[in-house]
Amino acid sequence: CGIVGVTGRVNAVEILLNGLQRLEYRGYDSAGIYVNSQDGKEYLVKEKGRIDDLRAEIGKEVHGSSGIGHTRWATHGVPSKENAHPHVSADGRYFLVHNGVIGNFAQLKATYLQDITFASDTDTEVIVQLIAKFAKEENLSTKEAFKKVISLVDESSSYSFLLMDNLEPETLYVAKNKSPLLIGVGDGFNVVCSDAIAMLDQTHDFIELVDGEIVIVKPQDVTIEDVTGRVIKRAPFHVNTDASEVEKGAYPYYMLKEIDEQPGVMRSLIEHYVSDDGTIVIDQSLLDSMKQADRLYIVAAGTSYHAGLVGKELFERLTQTPTEVHVASEFGYNPPLLSKKPFFIFLTQSGETADSRQVLSQINEWGYESLTITNVENSTLSREATFTLLLYAGPEIAVASTKAYTAQIALEAILAKKFGEIKQVAIAKSFDVAHELTMVANGMQELVDEKGQYEQIAANALATTRNAFYIGRAIDYDVAQEAALKLKEVSYVQTEGFASGELKHGTIALIEEGTPVIAIITEEKTAKHTRSNTQEVLARGANVINIASRYLSEDGDQIILPDVHPLLTPLLSIVPCQLLAYYTSLQRGYDVDKPRNLAKSVTVE
Ligand code: G6P
Repeated sequence: CGIVGVTGRVNAVEILLNGLQRLEYRGYDSAGIYVNSQDGKEYLVKEKGRIDDLRAEIGKEVHGSSGIGHTRWATHGVPSKENAHPHVSADGRYFLVHNGVIGNFAQLKATYLQDITFASDTDTEVIVQLIAKFAKEENLSTKEAFKKVISLVDESSSYSFLLMDNLEPETLYVAKNKSPLLIGVGDGFNVVCSDAIAMLDQTHDFIELVDGEIVIVKPQDVTIEDVTGRVIKRAPFHVNTDASEVEKGAYPYYMLKEIDEQPGVMRSLIEHYVSDDGTIVIDQSLLDSMKQADRLYIVAAGTSYHAGLVGKELFERLTQTPTEVHVASEFGYNPPLLSKKPFFIFLTQSGETADSRQVLSQINEWGYESLTITNVENSTLSREATFTLLLYAGPEIAVASTKAYTAQIALEAILAKKFGEIKQVAIAKSFDVAHELTMVANGMQELVDEKGQYEQIAANALATTRNAFYIGRAIDYDVAQEAALKLKEVSYVQTEGFASGELKHGTIALIEEGTPVIAIITEEKTAKHTRSNTQEVLARGANVINIASRYLSEDGDQIILPDVHPLLTPLLSIVPCQLLAYYTSLQRGYDVDKPRNLAKSVTVE
C-alpha cells in the first residue's frame, strides 16, 4: 500500500491525489483521503478501484490544507469502499491510514474493543478504535494514546501509520516499523509519503525515519522522538530525481517506456562503475569482505530472484565462487545449511520487499556481512545491509519489472568481473565488461527498434491462447523463467518457464495443437539439445517460436538476437520476451502497467 500526508498547503486534495497516483504501483484496489480545512470542515472520501475512480468521487466542495491518503493492496479484507483507508474511530475524532500488517489485531480487538461495532474487516480499524478508546477512557493526549497502542502491537507486525486528530487538524502523527516512510520538508509546509517519488513536485528534501520513532509533523516543524521519548535531530537528504522522470512522456504505458530505456540503463551503469581507463570502481571494503567468502548467497523475490539465477552463472564462471540463489520467503523460514564463510547479496529493485528484508534482519542478527543491489537510494534494504550498489536505472513504475532486471544482471556482471579479477580468475581478466555491455546496449537498441514484429507474433501466437511455455537450458532456462513470469503477470496467460530437457518427463502432456512453445537458444553447448526438444513438441502440435542468437540461428527462426558475449545473452534474449508480454496484454485489453492483484513493492510478508 502507499500512503501520503500533507499539512500547511492550501491545495491538500490535489497534493494527496497526485501523490497517490504516483504510489499506485504499491497497490490499486481501493483508495481514500481525509482532508481538513482548519475551519471546522472535514471530508472523508473513499472508493473501490483506482485513484482516478477516487478522483471522480471527490466533489468540488472537498478542500483542505491538511490531510492523509492511501492506496491499497488488500491484505485483511476484500477490496471495497468499507475496507479502504482512511479508517475512522467510532467517535469520529481520529483518522488513520496504514501500510503493513498488524499481527495481533484479532487479540487486540477481543481484549479491548468488544463493545465497538466495526465498519470494516481491516486490522487498521482496530488501531484507530484503540487510539480513540485510550484517549477518551484514560484521558491520554493523542500522542500518548498513539504510543500506547503502538506498544501493544506485537513484534511480527509491520506498519507505517499516519494519524490525524480533528481536534488538532494541522498535526500529522507518524510512526513506522518495517514499512517505509519519509517526511518531505517544505517551506511552511511538510509532507509524508511511502516513497519520495510521490512528493517530488512538492520538495526534494526528505527525512528518513527509524523504526519505533514517533514523529509529529506540523506546517512549520517536524519533531522526531525515539522510543524513549528523547527528541532526535536528523538532517534531510536530497533526492536528485527529477519529477519528470516519473512521467510517461509520449509513451502510452510505463512498461514500454522502461523496456525502451534499457540500452540507456546499460550505458549509465558503465558510466557509474567504469572509469575512463577501464578500471572498475567498486568500494574496496566490499571487495575485501567478498574475498573472505567461501560461498555467495543471493536472496531475492520475483523478477529480482530471476536476475539472481543469472547472477549465479556470472559469479560461478567469472569468480569461481560457489553461489546459491534463494527465494527470500523460503529462506526466511527454512534457511539452508550455510557454509563457513557466507556472503549475502540481496537483489531488490525497490529495496523494500518485506520477504527479503526479513532475511536481511536475520543474517544481521547472525553477524554476517551483506550487499544490497537496489534501484532506490536510502531504501530500507540499502540502509540495513553492510554495502550497497545502486542500479541507476531511473524510477521503474510499471508493476512488471523490466529495466531493473537487466540492470541487476549487468551490475552483477560488473561486480563479478572485478571480484574475479581480484581472485585472478583467467576468464574474468580477459572479460572486458565495459566493451561487452556497450555491445549489449547496441543490441538492445536493435531489438527495441523492431517492435512491429513482436506485436505480430503476439497477435498470431499469444493473443487468444490459454497457456504457453518458455523453454531453454542453462542460462536460457534462467531467462525462460523470467520470460514466463513477464507473460503471465501482464496477460494472465498461464505460462511456465521450463528446462527444455525436463519437459518430456511429464509436462509435455500439456502440449496440444497450437500450444505456443517459445524456445530461447543462445548457447552453443545447449543449442542442439534445445532444438531437439522443440522437435518433440512440434511433433505433438505445438506452435514453436524460436528466439536464437544470430550465430546459432537457422532458417525459420522467428526472432534473431544480435551476438554478444555468451555470458551476457540474457540481457538480449529477455527483451523480445518483455515485448511479447507487453503486446499480448494490450491485445487482450488489459492495463499492462497495473496487472490485477499485484503490487510493485510488497512490504508485507
Ligand atoms: C513484487 C513485484 C515484482 C518484483 C518483486 C520483488 O512482487 O510485483 O515485480 O519482482 O516484488 O521486488 P523487489 O523490489 O524486491 O525487486
